[in-house]
Amino acid sequence: MPHIHIKSFKPVAMPARHEETAFNFLASNVVYKDEHLISVTLEDKSFFLLVKDGEKDVLLKSEKISRPSPTYIVKRALNAYAALSESEVLSSNVDDTSKNIHLEKDEALWSIHDFAKGFPEAKDVRIEVGFGSGRHLLHQAQENPDVLFIGIEIHKPSVEQALKQINILGLKNVILLDYDARLFLELVPSNIVSKIYVHFPVPWDKKPHRRVISTAFINESTRVLALQGQLELRTDSENYFAYSWETFISLNKAKLMVNKNQEIAISSKYEDRWKKMEKNIYDITLINEEISPKIKVGGSFEFSTGLDEARIMALNSTTEKTEGGFIHFERLYKTDDNRMMLRISMGSFERPEHLYVIVGSDKSYYFPTQPVPSQINFAVHKHLDGLIHG
Ligand SMILES: C[S@@+](CC[C@H](N)C(=O)[O-])C[C@H]1O[C@@H](n2cnc3c(N)ncnc32)[C@H](O)[C@@H]1O
Repeated sequence: MPHIHIKSFKPVAMPARHEETAFNFLASNVVYKDEHLISVTLEDKSFFLLVKDGEKDVLLKSEKISRPSPTYIVKRALNAYAALSESEVLSSNVDDTSKNIHLEKDEALWSIHDFAKGFPEAKDVRIEVGFGSGRHLLHQAQENPDVLFIGIEIHKPSVEQALKQINILGLKNVILLDYDARLFLELVPSNIVSKIYVHFPVPWDKKPHRRVISTAFINESTRVLALQGQLELRTDSENYFAYSWETFISLNKAKLMVNKNQEIAISSKYEDRWKKMEKNIYDITLINEEISPKIKVGGSFEFSTGLDEARIMALNSTTEKTEGGFIHFERLYKTDDNRMMLRISMGSFERPEHLYVIVGSDKSYYFPTQPVPSQINFAVHKHLDGLIHG
């Protein structure tokens, strides 16, 4: 990830600009005095740069919750801050900050907000979760020009690679999203998806809560799949296969198919590697036979007004449980324009979201995005608003 080591941190009076980069405000951690966040806007993307004071120097890098795609935006912002603050740069891995011509067009790259505003219309929709190199996604999109493919991936460099390829190939039937696929599914209308591919998911043997396959994910997949639509899991991990099989079979009702070492139309980078090592490959396919009710989502992520500093300070490092969900207050910041900012995790235990809440006396809001509009998140939000504003 792009970063710069500077000799010392020099705060600048904000708002400020360096060429096209706008610096909006500085937020300083109330407990850990060595950590600051700089709010940046560049090319319609708003995000934070993280400043971490070390013993010998200061690290300036992108902040992971708000990190934008493509990465060159972060690189430009890092260089812009170093230039604006006239910092002495000791070392940097930020080299080429020019925009790659194949990333200039980014219509294929959607944000979670775009989906929340309106789901794309298409006769046939297929979703690939964790597309990695994108080999399977792009092959399928080229072979099926009448199908809309939605590729979801949390690894930003992979998203960029796929975006470049989409532009080079001139594909019009692919949408990319860098977001957690487990949360995304909640925004998908019922019974419209013909296939969900989950190929070689990370097994997360030591952190099973991060696995894509779970009862909640399978239930949500069943809801979005059309009649006879399929959820296709492909894995080389015997452990993940066993765990997934147990999860699928514990459903009340399911039509399932299992295959071992089945060849498919295109083999991914991972698959090639496992095949070379003569590992077995397992598929579990769920075939949906149910029509699900339409999703009912209604509610608001608006906050009440007012800023009660003592109330907010008392929330730091606490966890609140609500019906079906929770809020954990991870970090607390004060901004240089007299606001407070909380870094929180919230939502359902299985699919928590990591966000900031910026609290001002006249307005409070989530950053970098609002939570996914699910019933649990609306309920958790209501509770959160009560905790912050009383
Ligand atoms: C082992 S790789 C496999 C990539 C690709 N499917 C293939 O077969 O080559 C798993 C990918 O899933 C992505 N991933 C993990 N959890 C995810 C999630 N919750 N939502 C979206 N992508 C995820 C990872 O970033 C990684 O690129």
